Amino acid sequence: MKKSLLFLLGLILFAGNTDAQMTADYRVIPLPKSIQANTNPTQVFTLKTGMGIAYDATNAELSRTAQFLQQWVEEATGIRLALTPKDKKAAIHLQIGLDADKKKKSKKAYTNATPLTEQQLEAYVITVNNHGITLAGRQPVGIFRAAQTLRKSLPLVRTDAVLMPYAVIEDEPRFSYRGVLLDCARHFFTVETIKQMLDVMALHGSNQFHWHLTEDQGWRFEVKALPELALKGSIREQTVIGPNAGIYDGEPYGGYYTQDECREIVRYAAERYINVIPEIDLPGHMQGALHVYPNLGCTGGPYPVKTEWGVSREVLCAGNPETMRFLKTVLGEVCDVFPSKFIHIGGDECPKNRWKECPKCQAKIKELGLVDDGKHSVENQLQTWVNHEVEDFLLARGRNLIGWDETLEGGLTESAVVMSWRGVKGGIEAARQGHRVIMSPNVFAYIDHPQLKDVAKQPRTIGGYIVSASKVYSFEPVLPDSLTVEQQQCIIGQQVNLWTEYIGYPEFAFYQLLPRLGAASEVQWCRPEQKDWDDFTARLPRLERLYDRIGVKYCHGLE
Ligand code: ACM
Ligand code: ZN
Repeated sequence: MKKSLLFLLGLILFAGNTDAQMTADYRVIPLPKSIQANTNPTQVFTLKTGMGIAYDATNAELSRTAQFLQQWVEEATGIRLALTPKDKKAAIHLQIGLDADKKKKSKKAYTNATPLTEQQLEAYVITVNNHGITLAGRQPVGIFRAAQTLRKSLPLVRTDAVLMPYAVIEDEPRFSYRGVLLDCARHFFTVETIKQMLDVMALHGSNQFHWHLTEDQGWRFEVKALPELALKGSIREQTVIGPNAGIYDGEPYGGYYTQDECREIVRYAAERYINVIPEIDLPGHMQGALHVYPNLGCTGGPYPVKTEWGVSREVLCAGNPETMRFLKTVLGEVCDVFPSKFIHIGGDECPKNRWKECPKCQAKIKELGLVDDGKHSVENQLQTWVNHEVEDFLLARGRNLIGWDETLEGGLTESAVVMSWRGVKGGIEAARQGHRVIMSPNVFAYIDHPQLKDVAKQPRTIGGYIVSASKVYSFEPVLPDSLTVEQQQCIIGQQVNLWTEYIGYPEFAFYQLLPRLGAASEVQWCRPEQKDWDDFTARLPRLERLYDRIGVKYCHGLE
Protein backbone atom coordinates (compact mmCIF):
# COMPACT_ATOMS: atom_id res chain seq x y z
CA MET A 1 0.00 0.00 0.00
CA LYS A 2 2.72 2.41 1.04
CA LYS A 3 4.76 1.52 -2.04
CA SER A 4 1.93 2.21 -4.46
CA LEU A 5 1.23 5.56 -2.78
CA LEU A 6 4.85 6.53 -3.21
CA PHE A 7 4.72 5.43 -6.83
CA LEU A 8 1.63 7.60 -7.40
CA LEU A 9 3.32 10.55 -5.73
CA GLY A 10 6.34 9.99 -8.01
CA LEU A 11 4.12 10.02 -11.06
CA ILE A 12 2.44 13.25 -9.99
CA LEU A 13 5.81 14.91 -9.35
CA PHE A 14 7.12 13.65 -12.66
CA ALA A 15 4.07 14.94 -14.54
CA GLY A 16 4.55 18.29 -12.77
CA ASN A 17 7.72 19.00 -14.73
CA THR A 18 6.95 21.79 -17.15
CA ASP A 19 8.21 22.02 -20.73
CA ALA A 20 10.64 24.72 -19.63
CA GLN A 21 12.23 22.20 -17.32
CA MET A 22 12.74 19.86 -20.27
CA THR A 23 14.59 22.45 -22.31
CA ALA A 24 18.35 22.83 -22.23
CA ASP A 25 19.79 26.14 -21.04
CA TYR A 26 23.29 26.89 -22.31
CA ARG A 27 23.93 29.65 -19.76
CA VAL A 28 25.99 27.40 -17.52
CA ILE A 29 28.76 28.04 -14.98
CA PRO A 30 31.34 29.12 -16.01
CA LEU A 31 29.48 31.13 -18.61
CA PRO A 32 30.64 30.41 -22.18
CA LYS A 33 32.27 33.27 -24.07
CA SER A 34 29.53 33.53 -26.69
CA ILE A 35 26.09 31.91 -26.94
CA GLN A 36 23.86 32.51 -29.94
CA ALA A 37 20.73 30.55 -29.16
CA ASN A 38 17.46 30.51 -31.04
CA THR A 39 14.53 31.49 -28.85
CA ASN A 40 11.85 30.31 -31.31
CA PRO A 41 10.33 27.26 -29.57
CA THR A 42 10.05 25.38 -32.86
CA GLN A 43 13.75 25.73 -33.58
CA VAL A 44 14.86 22.91 -31.35
CA PHE A 45 16.58 19.59 -31.72
CA THR A 46 15.04 16.87 -29.58
CA LEU A 47 17.58 14.67 -27.84
CA LYS A 48 16.08 11.28 -27.07
CA THR A 49 16.90 7.90 -25.63
CA GLY A 50 18.46 5.58 -28.20
CA MET A 51 20.17 8.33 -30.20
CA GLY A 52 23.87 7.92 -30.83
CA ILE A 53 27.20 9.63 -30.22
CA ALA A 54 29.60 9.44 -33.17
CA TYR A 55 33.37 9.87 -32.85
CA ASP A 56 36.66 8.54 -34.13
CA ALA A 57 36.99 5.31 -32.16
CA THR A 58 40.70 5.06 -32.96
CA ASN A 59 41.18 8.14 -30.79
CA ALA A 60 41.32 6.98 -27.16
CA GLU A 61 40.62 10.44 -25.78
CA LEU A 62 37.51 10.94 -27.89
CA SER A 63 36.30 7.46 -27.02
CA ARG A 64 36.65 8.30 -23.35
CA THR A 65 34.87 11.63 -23.70
CA ALA A 66 32.04 9.90 -25.58
CA GLN A 67 31.67 7.53 -22.62
CA PHE A 68 31.73 10.42 -20.15
CA LEU A 69 29.03 12.21 -22.16
CA GLN A 70 26.89 9.11 -22.30
CA GLN A 71 27.18 8.76 -18.53
CA TRP A 72 26.52 12.47 -17.83
CA VAL A 73 23.41 12.66 -20.02
CA GLU A 74 21.98 9.58 -18.32
CA GLU A 75 22.90 10.90 -14.86
CA ALA A 76 21.08 14.21 -15.49
CA THR A 77 18.03 13.07 -17.41
CA GLY A 78 17.87 9.29 -17.59
CA ILE A 79 18.29 9.49 -21.38
CA ARG A 80 20.45 6.59 -22.53
CA LEU A 81 22.47 7.44 -25.62
CA ALA A 82 24.28 4.82 -27.67
CA LEU A 83 27.97 4.85 -28.58
CA THR A 84 27.88 4.68 -32.37
CA PRO A 85 31.36 5.73 -33.54
CA LYS A 86 30.80 5.31 -37.27
CA ASP A 87 27.20 6.49 -37.57
CA LYS A 88 27.13 9.55 -39.83
CA LYS A 89 23.51 10.11 -38.84
CA ALA A 90 24.15 10.08 -35.09
CA ALA A 91 22.55 12.85 -33.03
CA ILE A 92 25.83 13.93 -31.47
CA HIS A 93 29.15 14.26 -33.26
CA LEU A 94 32.51 14.75 -31.59
CA GLN A 95 34.66 16.53 -34.15
CA ILE A 96 38.34 17.37 -34.10
CA GLY A 97 38.97 20.70 -35.81
CA LEU A 98 37.13 24.00 -35.79
CA ASP A 99 35.41 25.20 -38.94
CA ALA A 100 36.81 28.68 -38.33
CA ASP A 101 40.37 27.28 -38.58
CA LYS A 102 39.60 25.52 -41.87
CA LYS A 103 38.33 28.77 -43.37
CA LYS A 104 41.41 30.63 -42.17
CA LYS A 105 43.77 27.98 -43.54
CA SER A 106 42.33 28.41 -46.98
CA LYS A 107 43.51 32.00 -46.94
CA LYS A 108 47.24 32.48 -47.59
CA ALA A 109 47.48 35.25 -45.02
CA TYR A 110 47.22 32.68 -42.25
CA THR A 111 50.12 30.47 -43.28
CA ASN A 112 52.47 32.39 -40.97
CA ALA A 113 50.03 32.56 -38.08
CA THR A 114 51.46 32.77 -34.56
CA PRO A 115 51.30 29.58 -32.49
CA LEU A 116 48.07 29.03 -30.60
CA THR A 117 47.93 29.83 -26.90
CA GLU A 118 47.11 27.14 -24.34
CA GLN A 119 43.66 28.70 -24.00
CA GLN A 120 43.07 28.54 -27.77
CA LEU A 121 44.01 24.88 -27.69
CA GLU A 122 41.16 24.35 -25.21
CA ALA A 123 38.63 26.22 -27.36
CA TYR A 124 35.45 24.54 -28.52
CA VAL A 125 32.32 25.20 -30.51
CA ILE A 126 28.95 23.53 -29.90
CA THR A 127 26.50 23.69 -32.78
CA VAL A 128 22.90 22.59 -32.39
CA ASN A 129 20.70 22.49 -35.49
CA ASN A 130 18.18 20.25 -37.19
CA HIS A 131 20.89 17.62 -37.86
CA GLY A 132 21.81 17.32 -34.20
CA ILE A 133 24.60 18.45 -31.93
CA THR A 134 28.26 18.86 -32.89
CA LEU A 135 30.94 19.27 -30.26
CA ALA A 136 34.05 20.53 -32.03
CA GLY A 137 37.48 21.29 -30.61
CA ARG A 138 40.97 21.86 -31.92
CA GLN A 139 42.07 19.10 -29.56
CA PRO A 140 40.28 16.42 -27.53
CA VAL A 141 40.50 18.68 -24.46
CA GLY A 142 38.21 21.18 -26.18
CA ILE A 143 35.69 18.46 -26.91
CA PHE A 144 35.82 17.39 -23.25
CA ARG A 145 35.11 21.00 -22.19
CA ALA A 146 32.25 21.14 -24.71
CA ALA A 147 30.82 17.91 -23.31
CA GLN A 148 30.90 19.42 -19.79
CA THR A 149 28.99 22.46 -21.08
CA LEU A 150 26.42 20.24 -22.75
CA ARG A 151 26.09 18.24 -19.53
CA LYS A 152 25.52 21.37 -17.43
CA SER A 153 22.99 22.73 -19.91
CA LEU A 154 20.66 19.76 -19.40
CA PRO A 155 17.58 19.99 -17.20
CA LEU A 156 17.88 17.83 -14.11
CA VAL A 157 14.69 15.90 -14.58
CA ARG A 158 13.91 12.30 -15.43
CA THR A 159 12.71 12.49 -19.01
CA ASP A 160 13.11 10.65 -22.28
CA ALA A 161 13.49 13.80 -24.41
CA VAL A 162 15.25 17.14 -23.99
CA LEU A 163 14.60 20.09 -26.26
CA MET A 164 17.88 21.64 -27.36
CA PRO A 165 17.36 25.12 -28.84
CA TYR A 166 19.34 25.63 -32.05
CA ALA A 167 22.53 27.41 -31.07
CA VAL A 168 26.16 28.18 -31.72
CA ILE A 169 28.26 28.32 -28.55
CA GLU A 170 31.86 29.44 -28.88
CA ASP A 171 34.09 29.23 -25.88
CA GLU A 172 37.64 29.28 -24.59
CA PRO A 173 39.05 29.97 -21.13
CA ARG A 174 40.49 33.33 -20.18
CA PHE A 175 43.45 31.91 -18.22
CA SER A 176 45.63 28.90 -18.92
CA TYR A 177 46.06 28.14 -15.18
CA ARG A 178 42.84 27.43 -13.29
CA GLY A 179 43.71 25.85 -9.99
CA VAL A 180 42.47 24.33 -6.77
CA LEU A 181 44.74 23.49 -3.82
CA LEU A 182 43.85 20.69 -1.43
CA ASP A 183 45.88 20.41 1.74
CA CYS A 184 46.19 16.66 2.36
CA ALA A 185 48.83 17.15 5.05
CA ARG A 186 46.92 18.80 7.93
CA HIS A 187 44.23 16.24 7.22
CA PHE A 188 44.51 13.19 5.02
CA PHE A 189 41.97 12.61 2.26
CA THR A 190 41.60 9.24 0.58
CA VAL A 191 42.34 8.56 -3.08
CA GLU A 192 38.58 8.13 -3.61
CA THR A 193 37.85 11.57 -2.16
CA ILE A 194 40.57 13.15 -4.28
CA LYS A 195 39.09 11.52 -7.37
CA GLN A 196 35.70 12.96 -6.49
CA MET A 197 37.32 16.36 -6.08
CA LEU A 198 38.98 16.03 -9.49
CA ASP A 199 35.57 15.26 -11.01
CA VAL A 200 34.16 18.37 -9.36
CA MET A 201 37.11 20.44 -10.59
CA ALA A 202 36.61 19.21 -14.15
CA LEU A 203 32.93 20.11 -13.89
CA HIS A 204 34.04 23.71 -13.28
CA GLY A 205 36.73 23.79 -15.98
CA SER A 206 39.64 23.79 -13.51
CA ASN A 207 42.81 22.27 -14.92
CA GLN A 208 45.45 22.36 -12.15
CA PHE A 209 45.28 20.32 -8.95
CA HIS A 210 47.80 21.70 -6.47
CA TRP A 211 48.41 18.84 -4.07
CA HIS A 212 49.85 20.02 -0.74
CA LEU A 213 51.58 16.87 0.48
CA THR A 214 53.97 17.76 3.29
CA GLU A 215 53.67 19.70 6.50
CA ASP A 216 54.77 20.13 10.09
CA GLN A 217 51.68 18.05 10.94
CA GLY A 218 52.44 15.15 8.60
CA TRP A 219 54.48 13.93 5.62
CA ARG A 220 52.24 12.19 3.10
CA PHE A 221 54.37 11.25 0.06
CA GLU A 222 56.14 7.89 -0.12
CA VAL A 223 59.85 8.22 -0.93
CA LYS A 224 61.21 4.80 -1.81
CA ALA A 225 64.82 5.65 -0.98
CA LEU A 226 63.69 6.90 2.44
CA PRO A 227 61.01 4.41 3.54
CA GLU A 228 60.83 5.68 7.14
CA LEU A 229 59.95 9.18 5.96
CA ALA A 230 56.29 8.50 5.16
CA LEU A 231 55.94 5.54 7.52
CA LYS A 232 56.85 7.59 10.59
CA GLY A 233 56.61 11.17 9.38
CA SER A 234 52.94 10.80 8.49
CA ILE A 235 51.78 10.02 12.03
CA ARG A 236 51.13 12.60 14.73
CA GLU A 237 50.45 11.35 18.22
CA GLN A 238 47.25 13.33 18.58
CA THR A 239 45.57 16.44 17.23
CA VAL A 240 44.58 19.64 18.94
CA ILE A 241 40.81 20.16 19.09
CA GLY A 242 39.67 23.45 17.58
CA PRO A 243 42.05 26.38 17.92
CA ASN A 244 45.31 25.85 19.82
CA ALA A 245 43.83 25.89 23.31
CA GLY A 246 45.73 22.94 24.72
CA ILE A 247 42.92 20.39 24.36
CA TYR A 248 43.82 17.28 22.35
CA ASP A 249 41.88 14.31 21.02
CA GLY A 250 44.41 11.75 22.26
CA GLU A 251 44.13 9.79 18.99
CA PRO A 252 47.09 9.04 16.71
CA TYR A 253 46.41 10.41 13.21
CA GLY A 254 48.13 9.44 9.98
CA GLY A 255 48.01 8.38 6.36
CA TYR A 256 50.21 8.75 3.31
CA TYR A 257 50.06 8.14 -0.43
CA THR A 258 52.13 5.39 -1.98
CA GLN A 259 53.78 6.24 -5.28
CA ASP A 260 51.36 3.87 -7.01
CA GLU A 261 48.45 5.82 -5.53
CA CYS A 262 50.02 9.11 -6.65
CA ARG A 263 50.39 7.73 -10.18
CA GLU A 264 46.76 6.64 -10.06
CA ILE A 265 45.73 10.19 -9.11
CA VAL A 266 47.88 11.59 -11.94
CA ARG A 267 46.25 9.18 -14.41
CA TYR A 268 42.72 9.90 -13.22
CA ALA A 269 43.34 13.65 -13.34
CA ALA A 270 44.86 13.49 -16.83
CA GLU A 271 41.75 11.71 -18.12
CA ARG A 272 39.89 14.81 -16.97
CA TYR A 273 42.48 17.21 -18.43
CA ILE A 274 43.81 18.19 -15.03
CA ASN A 275 47.50 18.47 -14.26
CA VAL A 276 48.67 17.45 -10.77
CA ILE A 277 51.21 19.78 -9.18
CA PRO A 278 52.78 18.25 -6.08
CA GLU A 279 54.00 20.58 -3.37
CA ILE A 280 56.93 19.68 -1.17
CA ASP A 281 57.01 22.68 1.14
CA LEU A 282 60.61 23.65 1.96
CA PRO A 283 62.68 24.60 3.91
CA GLY A 284 59.96 25.44 6.47
CA HIS A 285 56.83 23.40 7.20
CA MET A 286 59.14 20.37 7.54
CA GLN A 287 58.60 19.09 11.05
CA GLY A 288 57.03 15.88 9.74
CA ALA A 289 60.34 15.09 8.01
CA LEU A 290 62.44 16.36 10.91
CA HIS A 291 60.68 13.89 13.19
CA VAL A 292 62.24 11.09 11.13
CA TYR A 293 65.56 12.79 10.36
CA PRO A 294 66.34 15.07 13.33
CA ASN A 295 69.89 15.46 12.04
CA LEU A 296 68.43 17.72 9.30
CA GLY A 297 67.28 20.30 11.87
CA CYS A 298 69.53 23.01 13.29
CA THR A 299 69.17 21.81 16.91
CA GLY A 300 69.20 18.05 16.30
CA GLY A 301 65.74 17.58 17.81
CA PRO A 302 63.90 15.57 18.93
CA TYR A 303 60.98 16.84 16.86
CA PRO A 304 57.54 15.31 17.29
CA VAL A 305 55.21 15.51 14.27
CA LYS A 306 53.38 18.70 15.19
CA THR A 307 50.05 18.23 16.97
CA GLU A 308 48.86 21.86 16.86
CA TRP A 309 48.27 24.29 14.00
CA GLY A 310 50.51 27.19 13.16
CA VAL A 311 54.03 27.59 11.82
CA SER A 312 56.89 25.70 13.43
CA ARG A 313 60.21 27.38 14.21
CA GLU A 314 61.90 24.08 13.41
CA VAL A 315 63.00 24.12 9.79
CA LEU A 316 65.57 22.32 7.65
CA CYS A 317 69.16 23.28 8.45
CA ALA A 318 70.42 25.03 5.33
CA GLY A 319 74.04 24.71 6.45
CA ASN A 320 74.00 20.92 6.60
CA PRO A 321 75.06 19.35 3.28
CA GLU A 322 72.84 16.35 4.10
CA THR A 323 69.81 18.65 3.79
CA MET A 324 70.43 19.24 0.10
CA ARG A 325 71.04 15.51 -0.47
CA PHE A 326 67.72 14.82 1.26
CA LEU A 327 65.86 17.38 -0.86
CA LYS A 328 67.34 16.07 -4.09
CA THR A 329 66.40 12.50 -3.19
CA VAL A 330 62.83 13.55 -2.43
CA LEU A 331 62.43 15.83 -5.45
CA GLY A 332 64.04 13.25 -7.75
CA GLU A 333 61.29 10.79 -6.82
CA VAL A 334 58.67 13.54 -7.05
CA CYS A 335 59.80 14.15 -10.65
CA ASP A 336 59.65 10.41 -11.38
CA VAL A 337 56.06 10.17 -10.16
CA PHE A 338 54.59 13.48 -11.34
CA PRO A 339 54.97 14.48 -15.01
CA SER A 340 53.85 18.06 -14.26
CA LYS A 341 56.05 20.77 -15.78
CA PHE A 342 55.45 22.72 -12.55
CA ILE A 343 56.72 21.46 -9.20
CA HIS A 344 55.74 23.52 -6.15
CA ILE A 345 58.45 23.99 -3.54
CA GLY A 346 56.46 26.05 -1.05
CA GLY A 347 59.00 28.47 0.39
CA ASP A 348 56.44 30.22 2.60
CA GLU A 349 56.64 30.97 6.30
CA CYS A 350 60.19 29.86 7.07
CA PRO A 351 61.11 31.41 10.44
CA LYS A 352 64.82 32.24 10.68
CA ASN A 353 65.22 31.95 14.47
CA ARG A 354 67.17 28.69 14.28
CA TRP A 355 69.33 29.72 11.32
CA LYS A 356 70.43 32.86 13.19
CA GLU A 357 71.80 30.73 16.01
CA CYS A 358 73.00 27.68 14.09
CA PRO A 359 76.79 27.41 13.57
CA LYS A 360 76.28 25.37 10.37
CA CYS A 361 73.88 27.89 8.86
CA GLN A 362 76.11 30.80 9.83
CA ALA A 363 79.15 29.02 8.34
CA LYS A 364 77.23 28.51 5.10
CA ILE A 365 76.34 32.21 5.02
CA LYS A 366 80.07 33.01 5.35
CA GLU A 367 81.05 30.45 2.73
CA LEU A 368 78.54 31.95 0.27
CA GLY A 369 79.79 35.47 1.08
CA LEU A 370 76.30 36.73 1.89
CA VAL A 371 76.06 40.24 3.31
CA ASP A 372 73.06 42.17 4.55
CA ASP A 373 72.24 44.69 1.82
CA GLY A 374 69.69 46.55 3.93
CA LYS A 375 66.83 44.94 2.01
CA HIS A 376 67.50 41.25 2.46
CA SER A 377 68.88 39.72 5.66
CA VAL A 378 71.64 37.14 5.24
CA GLU A 379 69.22 34.47 6.44
CA ASN A 380 66.67 35.43 3.76
CA GLN A 381 69.47 35.23 1.22
CA LEU A 382 70.36 31.79 2.56
CA GLN A 383 66.81 30.68 1.76
CA THR A 384 67.27 32.10 -1.72
CA TRP A 385 70.40 29.99 -2.08
CA VAL A 386 68.32 26.90 -1.14
CA ASN A 387 65.69 27.92 -3.71
CA HIS A 388 68.31 28.28 -6.43
CA GLU A 389 69.87 24.90 -5.68
CA VAL A 390 66.45 23.28 -5.86
CA GLU A 391 65.51 25.25 -8.96
CA ASP A 392 68.70 24.12 -10.77
CA PHE A 393 67.90 20.54 -9.85
CA LEU A 394 64.36 20.87 -11.23
CA LEU A 395 65.45 22.74 -14.36
CA ALA A 396 67.89 19.93 -15.17
CA ARG A 397 64.83 17.67 -15.22
CA GLY A 398 62.89 20.04 -17.43
CA ARG A 399 60.66 21.30 -14.64
CA ASN A 400 59.79 24.80 -13.51
CA LEU A 401 59.55 25.75 -9.89
CA ILE A 402 56.49 27.38 -8.38
CA GLY A 403 56.98 29.10 -5.04
CA TRP A 404 54.77 31.07 -2.67
CA ASP A 405 55.46 34.79 -2.86
CA GLU A 406 58.14 34.67 -0.12
CA THR A 407 60.44 33.03 -2.69
CA LEU A 408 60.54 36.34 -4.52
CA GLU A 409 62.25 38.06 -1.62
CA GLY A 410 65.76 36.97 -2.45
CA GLY A 411 65.45 36.88 -6.25
CA LEU A 412 64.47 34.04 -8.56
CA THR A 413 65.52 32.96 -12.03
CA GLU A 414 63.27 33.90 -14.93
CA SER A 415 61.51 30.57 -15.36
CA ALA A 416 60.25 30.43 -11.76
CA VAL A 417 56.54 30.98 -11.19
CA VAL A 418 55.27 32.96 -8.21
CA MET A 419 52.04 32.14 -6.38
CA SER A 420 50.81 35.29 -4.69
CA TRP A 421 49.03 34.49 -1.40
CA ARG A 422 49.76 37.40 0.95
CA GLY A 423 47.42 39.63 -1.02
CA VAL A 424 48.36 40.66 -4.55
CA LYS A 425 51.53 42.63 -3.73
CA GLY A 426 53.90 39.73 -4.35
CA GLY A 427 52.14 38.94 -7.61
CA ILE A 428 52.45 42.51 -8.83
CA GLU A 429 56.14 42.65 -7.94
CA ALA A 430 56.75 39.28 -9.62
CA ALA A 431 54.93 40.32 -12.81
CA ARG A 432 56.97 43.51 -12.89
CA GLN A 433 60.09 41.34 -12.77
CA GLY A 434 58.74 39.26 -15.66
CA HIS A 435 57.85 36.12 -13.72
CA ARG A 436 54.74 34.16 -14.47
CA VAL A 437 52.25 34.66 -11.65
CA ILE A 438 49.33 32.72 -10.22
CA MET A 439 47.04 34.92 -8.15
CA SER A 440 45.76 33.27 -4.99
CA PRO A 441 45.41 36.12 -2.50
CA ASN A 442 44.20 34.98 0.90
CA VAL A 443 41.40 37.55 1.18
CA PHE A 444 39.80 36.40 -2.08
CA ALA A 445 40.91 32.79 -2.50
CA TYR A 446 41.36 31.10 0.90
CA ILE A 447 38.28 28.96 1.00
CA ASP A 448 39.21 27.42 4.34
CA HIS A 449 37.60 30.58 5.81
CA PRO A 450 33.87 30.53 6.62
CA GLN A 451 31.61 31.56 3.77
CA LEU A 452 28.58 32.68 5.81
CA LYS A 453 28.50 35.56 8.26
CA ASP A 454 26.37 33.64 10.75
CA VAL A 455 28.85 31.27 12.39
CA ALA A 456 26.04 29.23 13.93
CA LYS A 457 24.90 28.16 10.45
CA GLN A 458 28.12 26.41 9.50
CA PRO A 459 30.76 24.13 10.98
CA ARG A 460 33.61 25.88 12.72
CA THR A 461 36.62 26.64 10.57
CA ILE A 462 39.64 28.89 10.51
CA GLY A 463 39.81 32.69 10.73
CA GLY A 464 37.11 35.23 10.08
CA TYR A 465 34.36 35.85 7.56
CA ILE A 466 36.44 37.38 4.77
CA VAL A 467 35.94 35.05 1.81
CA SER A 468 32.24 34.82 0.98
CA ALA A 469 31.31 33.45 -2.43
CA SER A 470 30.61 36.99 -3.67
CA LYS A 471 34.08 38.05 -2.51
CA VAL A 472 35.63 35.15 -4.42
CA TYR A 473 33.58 36.19 -7.44
CA SER A 474 34.64 39.83 -7.22
CA PHE A 475 38.35 39.16 -7.69
CA GLU A 476 40.09 40.46 -10.79
CA PRO A 477 43.47 38.68 -11.16
CA VAL A 478 44.89 41.06 -13.76
CA LEU A 479 45.43 44.43 -12.19
CA PRO A 480 45.37 47.08 -14.91
CA ASP A 481 45.96 49.88 -12.38
CA SER A 482 49.20 48.32 -11.23
CA LEU A 483 50.52 46.49 -14.30
CA THR A 484 51.28 47.50 -17.88
CA VAL A 485 49.59 45.56 -20.66
CA GLU A 486 52.79 43.55 -21.14
CA GLN A 487 53.11 42.81 -17.42
CA GLN A 488 49.45 41.70 -17.30
CA GLN A 489 50.40 38.87 -19.67
CA CYS A 490 52.48 37.43 -16.81
CA ILE A 491 49.32 36.62 -14.82
CA ILE A 492 48.70 33.09 -16.02
CA GLY A 493 45.79 32.34 -13.74
CA GLN A 494 44.09 32.05 -10.43
CA GLN A 495 43.71 29.43 -7.73
CA VAL A 496 41.51 28.80 -4.69
CA ASN A 497 43.13 27.13 -1.69
CA LEU A 498 41.50 24.66 0.63
CA TRP A 499 43.68 24.40 3.72
CA THR A 500 42.46 21.76 6.12
CA GLU A 501 43.47 22.46 9.71
CA TYR A 502 39.78 22.44 10.66
CA ILE A 503 38.51 20.34 7.77
CA GLY A 504 38.89 16.71 8.72
CA TYR A 505 36.38 14.90 6.55
CA PRO A 506 35.34 14.93 2.87
CA GLU A 507 31.79 16.32 3.27
CA PHE A 508 33.19 19.38 5.02
CA ALA A 509 35.83 19.82 2.30
CA PHE A 510 33.17 19.86 -0.42
CA TYR A 511 31.00 22.16 1.69
CA GLN A 512 33.89 24.63 1.89
CA LEU A 513 34.67 24.26 -1.81
CA LEU A 514 31.14 24.69 -3.14
CA PRO A 515 29.68 26.83 -4.43
CA ARG A 516 32.81 28.99 -4.08
CA LEU A 517 34.52 27.00 -6.82
CA GLY A 518 31.55 27.97 -9.01
CA ALA A 519 32.31 31.61 -8.25
CA ALA A 520 36.05 31.07 -8.79
CA SER A 521 35.40 29.29 -12.08
CA GLU A 522 34.05 32.53 -13.54
CA VAL A 523 37.16 34.37 -12.31
CA GLN A 524 39.30 31.70 -13.95
CA TRP A 525 37.33 31.18 -17.16
CA CYS A 526 35.32 34.30 -18.01
CA ARG A 527 36.35 37.73 -19.20
CA PRO A 528 35.71 40.56 -16.72
CA GLU A 529 32.97 42.12 -18.88
CA GLN A 530 31.02 38.84 -18.75
CA LYS A 531 30.93 38.74 -14.98
CA ASP A 532 27.75 39.74 -13.15
CA TRP A 533 27.06 38.51 -9.62
CA ASP A 534 23.26 38.70 -9.88
CA ASP A 535 23.33 36.79 -13.14
CA PHE A 536 25.66 34.21 -11.56
CA THR A 537 23.31 33.69 -8.62
CA ALA A 538 20.41 33.21 -11.06
CA ARG A 539 22.37 30.49 -12.90
CA LEU A 540 23.63 28.76 -9.75
CA PRO A 541 20.53 26.77 -8.66
CA ARG A 542 20.79 24.44 -11.66
CA LEU A 543 24.45 23.76 -10.90
CA GLU A 544 23.46 23.10 -7.28
CA ARG A 545 20.91 20.57 -8.44
CA LEU A 546 23.74 18.88 -10.29
CA TYR A 547 25.82 18.91 -7.07
CA ASP A 548 22.85 17.16 -5.43
CA ARG A 549 22.63 14.69 -8.28
CA ILE A 550 26.30 13.74 -8.09
CA GLY A 551 26.14 13.64 -4.31
CA VAL A 552 28.52 16.37 -3.19
CA LYS A 553 27.79 18.69 -0.29
CA TYR A 554 27.75 22.44 -0.74
CA CYS A 555 26.99 25.50 1.33
CA HIS A 556 23.43 26.80 1.03
CA GLY A 557 22.51 30.44 1.47
CA LEU A 558 24.88 32.23 -0.82
CA GLU A 559 26.45 35.48 0.42
C1 ACM B 1 50.33 29.90 2.88
O1 ACM B 1 49.12 30.08 3.10
N1 ACM B 1 51.18 29.81 3.91
C2 ACM B 1 50.84 29.75 1.56
ZN1 ZN C 1 71.20 25.20 10.65
